[in-house]
Amino acid sequence: MNPPKKPRVVVTREVFDDAIDYLSTHCEVHANQVDAPYSPEALAAALANAQGLMCALTDKVDAALLASCPQLQAVANIAVGYNNIDVPACTARGIQVTNTPGVLDDSTADLAFALMLATARRITEVESYIRQGAWTGWKLKQWLGVDVHHATLGIVGMGRIGQAIAKRAQGFDMRVIYHNRKRVAPDIEQRLSAAFVSLGDLLAQSDFIILQVPYAPETHHLIGAAELAMMKPGAILVNSTRGGVVDDKALVEALKKGVIRGAGLDVYEGEPKLDAGFLSLKNVVLVPHIGSSTEATRRAMAMTAARNLVAALSGERPPNLVNGEVLALR
Ligand code: DGY
Repeated sequence: MNPPKKPRVVVTREVFDDAIDYLSTHCEVHANQVDAPYSPEALAAALANAQGLMCALTDKVDAALLASCPQLQAVANIAVGYNNIDVPACTARGIQVTNTPGVLDDSTADLAFALMLATARRITEVESYIRQGAWTGWKLKQWLGVDVHHATLGIVGMGRIGQAIAKRAQGFDMRVIYHNRKRVAPDIEQRLSAAFVSLGDLLAQSDFIILQVPYAPETHHLIGAAELAMMKPGAILVNSTRGGVVDDKALVEALKKGVIRGAGLDVYEGEPKLDAGFLSLKNVVLVPHIGSSTEATRRAMAMTAARNLVAALSGERPPNLVNGEVLALR
């Protein structure tokens, strides 16, 4: 008797060999090792006979794509955020969706902190000055920055990553305030010395504001011109979550006019394109969506996604199922 046919899975971007090896023991793997995103048409063609998809935030999984791949049973995103996937459309077709929470919290919190420190101490600005050979010597009033230690940090979004940021802030003797859809449990507030405030109070009181809310219709342009105007003129804004949470055009204007002091950005509306206005500003530190990008974390994310996919296709409940209600529809 022939062994049962392995499910076919498509991996849309280059990942580490251990994830491909693991997938290959359970599935027939079609891996896009070119590492350029598939066009929607190419992705639809690759998925035509596939049961599983391991994808990244650069892949749009929408109703149109789903309509062209009737055999699809599971979509494993290699990210904690999954705004690239139309989850209700997947659920309607009985397709399981998974993400990679947990494994990237600390790396992402580190990067948010790095952006805050780099913006406060003007690291990229002075680095380019020194590389240009423009440094002629030490001066008392040269390149003055602002202190992170003992300042007030406002965290918008107090999930796992927000909490990891608050934990780091304790080491810098910061006062931590936060805003979240739902207030976190008192023991967490106590452990992190974090006080719940309204968004308005957070904007008005913070020296540094770090955004860590998921992108969704409700968080689209959560920070726009009106919110920027509520911040202190010396405030520094860090967006380490998703493009679209900030109205980038309004931010460029605010940075130009000195409405706030500076910004540290990992994510952008419409990335990889970004508002050209950012490029000529000195008071913004720009990095290319590297929040989770350490080798250990990206490896762990790819392996988590692979495990989720294999579990889903083996009839087990995947550890990180986003749309649990889909199981009831089977
Ligand atoms: C995530 O996990 O959502 C990250 O943005 C991916 O890098």
